Amino acid sequence: MKIAIFDTHKFEKSYFETANQQPRAHSSTPHRITWLDARLNSQTARLAVGHDAVGSFVNDRVDAETCSQLAALGVRLIALRCAGTNHVDLQAARLHKLQVVRVPEYSPHAVAEHAVALLLTLNRKIHRAHNRVREMNFSLDGLVGFDLYKKTVGVIGVGRIGQVFAQIMSGFGTEVLLFDPQTPTAFAAKVGARVTSLEELLQRSDVISLHCPLNEQTRHMLDAQRFYQMKPGAMIVNTGRGALIETRALIQALKSGRLGGAALDVYEEEAGVFFEDLSERGVNDDQLARLLTFPNVLITSHQAFLTHEALTAIAQTTLQSLDEFESGRPLSSPAFTSR
Ligand code: NAI
Repeated sequence: MKIAIFDTHKFEKSYFETANQQPRAHSSTPHRITWLDARLNSQTARLAVGHDAVGSFVNDRVDAETCSQLAALGVRLIALRCAGTNHVDLQAARLHKLQVVRVPEYSPHAVAEHAVALLLTLNRKIHRAHNRVREMNFSLDGLVGFDLYKKTVGVIGVGRIGQVFAQIMSGFGTEVLLFDPQTPTAFAAKVGARVTSLEELLQRSDVISLHCPLNEQTRHMLDAQRFYQMKPGAMIVNTGRGALIETRALIQALKSGRLGGAALDVYEEEAGVFFEDLSERGVNDDQLARLLTFPNVLITSHQAFLTHEALTAIAQTTLQSLDEFESGRPLSSPAFTSR
């Protein structure tokens, strides 16, 4: 199949090239890949001309107009190189008879371990200590953190990633509170955690980590009211999706000193900023610029997935989906089930 991969990054290319050359379960023929720098949206969709499929990444905007254009060009498959589908209008895709596949699980460990790395770095101020030591400043003032042991950690969204995160946290000797509409009681019993209401989790947790998908129910789930409900000094970690948090409310909670800190791998308006080198230009986004001024905010550029294992799995699953689609087999990783 011919696939145009949008929003290509240097870090992923070699994984796709390797996986494409390897014999796979249902095919030994390599697919023909066109690598495109542009993000996929209604302005760039026409670049997919002559391709059967497109590869899409987290900050594309695959809206109804983009789907309509792709379908008109003869594209039949959208392959998401990620788990989340929040950047795709799935209904429009279905309407235009575009099949959508995703990578439902590439490495929950990659993301959960990054959340832990963010939490430890922010709490123990490793980022600040590192900068100091590099400048031969070996003083410790301002670097005091807290023991995680015996603290309360709230996990919002207890699916694949949330479960790994909760398990790691329980290894630190913390009390783990879980909130998920699916009520994960069996998992809670397994790791010695407790299922609670969102209210109790917010009120009692010293650390809150977000691991739920972004959808209409979860957009801005942490807003001004929810920040107010949190235990004063609580720390939040977000490796889910940026818009789970209302940025304006986050800034207020940090300004007032009510929130102890925020470790973010995702940001509401990250498209066009994250993954880019803006070191010569700076950022135009005033909210992001404000967040970067807080000493108790730590931001990484949507890199929680960035491990060797995860990139290998993303490439292999995507190519397997192309094989399945080409041979007419049932898709193992559809983003929606065809009626
Ligand atoms: P999953 O589908 O296994 O688990 C999500 C869980 O969230 C489910 O148990 C679901 O019941 C729960 N949930 C749904 N609505 C909720 C709500 N209103 N409140 C609390 N929980 C709710 O998904 P997985 O694989 O654990 O991924 C979670 C999210 O992590 C993805 O949707 C994606 O947005 C994000 N992610 C971020 C990455 C990064 O690099 N930063 C990489 C991969 C995923």
